[in-house]
Amino acid sequence: MAGSYFLTTAIDYVNSAPHLGHAYEKVLADFFARHQQSIERDVLFLTGVDEHGQKVQQSAQREGIEPGIFAARMSAQFQKLYDNLGVKPSCFVRTTDAHHKTIVREWLQKLHDRGEIIFKEHAGFYSVRQEQFLTEKERVDGQWPEIFGEVIETKESNYYFPLEPYRERLVKYIQENPEWIVPAFRRNELLGALAEPLGDLCISRPKLRLAWGIPLPFNEDYVTYVWFDALVNYYSFASVKGTLRWPPDMQTIGKDILVPQHGIYWPIMLLALGIELPKRLLVHGFWTNSGAKISKSNAKSLVDPAPYVEKFGPDALRYFVLREMVLGQDADFSDERFETRYTGDLGKKLGNLVQRTLSMINSYRAGVVPNYDGFHLAEADAALRSDAVVDEYKRAVEQFAPHLALQAVWEFVARANEYIEQTAPFKLAKDPAQSKRLDVILGLLAETLRRLSVLVQAALPFTAEKIRAQLQLPPGPARLDEALFGNSLRGHVVGKPGVIFPPIEKQPSAGT
Ligand code: MSP
Repeated sequence: MAGSYFLTTAIDYVNSAPHLGHAYEKVLADFFARHQQSIERDVLFLTGVDEHGQKVQQSAQREGIEPGIFAARMSAQFQKLYDNLGVKPSCFVRTTDAHHKTIVREWLQKLHDRGEIIFKEHAGFYSVRQEQFLTEKERVDGQWPEIFGEVIETKESNYYFPLEPYRERLVKYIQENPEWIVPAFRRNELLGALAEPLGDLCISRPKLRLAWGIPLPFNEDYVTYVWFDALVNYYSFASVKGTLRWPPDMQTIGKDILVPQHGIYWPIMLLALGIELPKRLLVHGFWTNSGAKISKSNAKSLVDPAPYVEKFGPDALRYFVLREMVLGQDADFSDERFETRYTGDLGKKLGNLVQRTLSMINSYRAGVVPNYDGFHLAEADAALRSDAVVDEYKRAVEQFAPHLALQAVWEFVARANEYIEQTAPFKLAKDPAQSKRLDVILGLLAETLRRLSVLVQAALPFTAEKIRAQLQLPPGPARLDEALFGNSLRGHVVGKPGVIFPPIEKQPSAGT
């Protein structure tokens, strides 16, 4: 093994059903996890759900059931969606897990013992939706912005974790580690937030108001603030066979939870406990739906990924989100864009290439991949033999640009389709004098499919397996360097072609 790689995603609130934004993040991380596996890293990949907190308690109350039952039911829904999407974490995190609760309490106790936690009374405005006290600074034109939902005036004694003592150290760390946050412009946003003194983070909620949480070890009348509970998951589930893997190589999060949660609270918790910081925060943008912000408070804006997975298959959704979103920026989802990608890139380009190639090998060479060693190769053949695509792919993934990695692969697909047009094997097949030339062309095309099965496996794992099955190759996943050109299929018998991306029949769209 070429070392190890540990990556995480945010864990989703289970107060309502998963949407496209949640699915994107998990697919993105799964893509990187599969990539790391293909370069022979021993991967630890965590994703899962954030089950405690007021929002979950309220949703359960609305349905008249216990929060634990509600959370378990919702968690299963998230897990099923991710499973259907081929997202394969090493462990599906649930914050109701007993071991996690123990670690959260241990961390709190340690901070308390070190004098990092204070108890004080606070009076002020409280956002029920965001589960936090607000400051006057947060008012816009005298009003509380909509993101805070219902805001009430209240007075409460609570436990606090003062952040200010760590601000300077954190700023220094960010300055000295320019690659800590990707993309770079998010770093400036965080440094901007750190230019002002930091307050004390309220890390408790009185049990009387919120029972659905982890009790504080030093006062059981209080439960832990949901973020102090949730962030700890990255550590409490970071073990492989009982051995801690730390720090994470990459933590994937959305732009809304960088400041302050992952950019301030999280590193300061770690600094205070003397635990190493994660090596990188990868911050992605938001999906909009036909131009509208996807938000739980606007039911119409929500894109439920499940019907798309059911109708078009998991890889269609995986491909769409990875290809369309420039990591870090926002992207827009619409049925039209989705269907264009599906029909064009997947059906007409990749699907057709596989089908045409296999049909020709079956028709002209009885399914046996010809050997072309020592034959004269024409200029057109060189483009298909080139290994440049593997380098481009790797570079793009290393630069956190899955869309460019897929673009490089699809340029390769386009070259192969053009090659068929240019060399016209269907014409050569009619002329016995062209038999050796036809061998070269079919051999190169078979090899191209084999290489493609490797190049698409991180993004489209199901498709990769279908291509391999049709080629009658052993199942993957393969090492990425197996995408390099070789002549390994000579004499190999391929299977019959099958449709990988069936055309969309004219029927109501998946979103309706
Ligand atoms: N539970 C917290 C995270 C705790 S991590 C220790 C949370 N949950 S969430 O369900 O609201 O969001 C989970 C992830 O989904 C976040 O990274 C968030 O940015 C992401 N997304 C939520 N809506 C999104 C879009 N519309 N588009 C892309 N990602 C979005 O925050």
